Amino acid sequence: MRTIFRLIGGSLSLSVVLASGPAAAGPLDAPGAAKALACSACHGLGGQSPSNTMPVIAGIAPWYFKKAIEDYAAGRRPSPEMEPYAKYVLEAGVDDLASYFASQPRQPTAVRVDAGAVERGRVASQQCVVCHVESGKGDPAKGIPDLRGQPPGYLANQMLLFKADRRSPGDATLKALKELMKSIPDDQIADLAAYYSSLR
Ligand code: HEC
Ligand code: HEC
Repeated sequence: MRTIFRLIGGSLSLSVVLASGPAAAGPLDAPGAAKALACSACHGLGGQSPSNTMPVIAGIAPWYFKKAIEDYAAGRRPSPEMEPYAKYVLEAGVDDLASYFASQPRQPTAVRVDAGAVERGRVASQQCVVCHVESGKGDPAKGIPDLRGQPPGYLANQMLLFKADRRSPGDATLKALKELMKSIPDDQIADLAAYYSSLR
């Protein structure tokens, strides 16, 4: 717990969560829950992000959780917000946190999207199905993550980071994805984000 306090400092949301801790049931009782408190300030309690820019990590597949944490900690996926927390996760035990978040029920984002954008995105998503598959749930065997129900702002940001080669720069395994993103106009990126966000 000492590490959590050092990282969070005077975070208001964390003190609220801790203050209500003993009385609350649910996510706080699960194994790994105490270590995950540090994440709730941004990702919401149990990883159910209420925001448009923070990804939902409730129900995240453990293989993808671990890859993301390792990439942030090593600076391959540059994020000033995530790098210190990724290092904390590696210190606190990545397996504990991966199973904690995997066991949390995943709700799709509450952020609403425009129906017209969803329809345009559905048409444009034909470019993505070879990897992300028709349902949008991805393919763990090929290292392809689930995009369904993520906040549209988060999805659009990540696509723009790929497009600018700022996420995992120079990673040869992501070359095809980045070439594709470079060919997609920014307004179509917003449509694709709305579409994948709307999938259940
Ligand atoms: C200060 C806010 C903040 C805190 C606290 C935080 N995160 Fe994050 N997290 C972010 C942001 C912002 C992103 C997206 C960064 C990017 O890639 O651009 C992110 C992304 C992630 C992702 C990637 C999800 C995906 O779909 O690729 C994982 C996994 C994650 N965080 C886990 C955690 C864990 C576990 C903790 C607690 C130990 C934590 N985060 C604490 C802000 C935060
Ligand atoms: C050649 C295969 C491939 C194609 C085609 C592809 N992707 Fe991906 N996508 C990936 C892989 C692999 C990752 C995970 C990258 C990583 O591990 O950092 C990914 C990650 C993502 C992410 C980040 C998810 C997260 O949780 O951080 C988004 C958003 C995304 N893709 C959207 C799309 C969209 C939209 C299309 C179609 C325009 C598309 N991708 C086409 C392979 C692909």
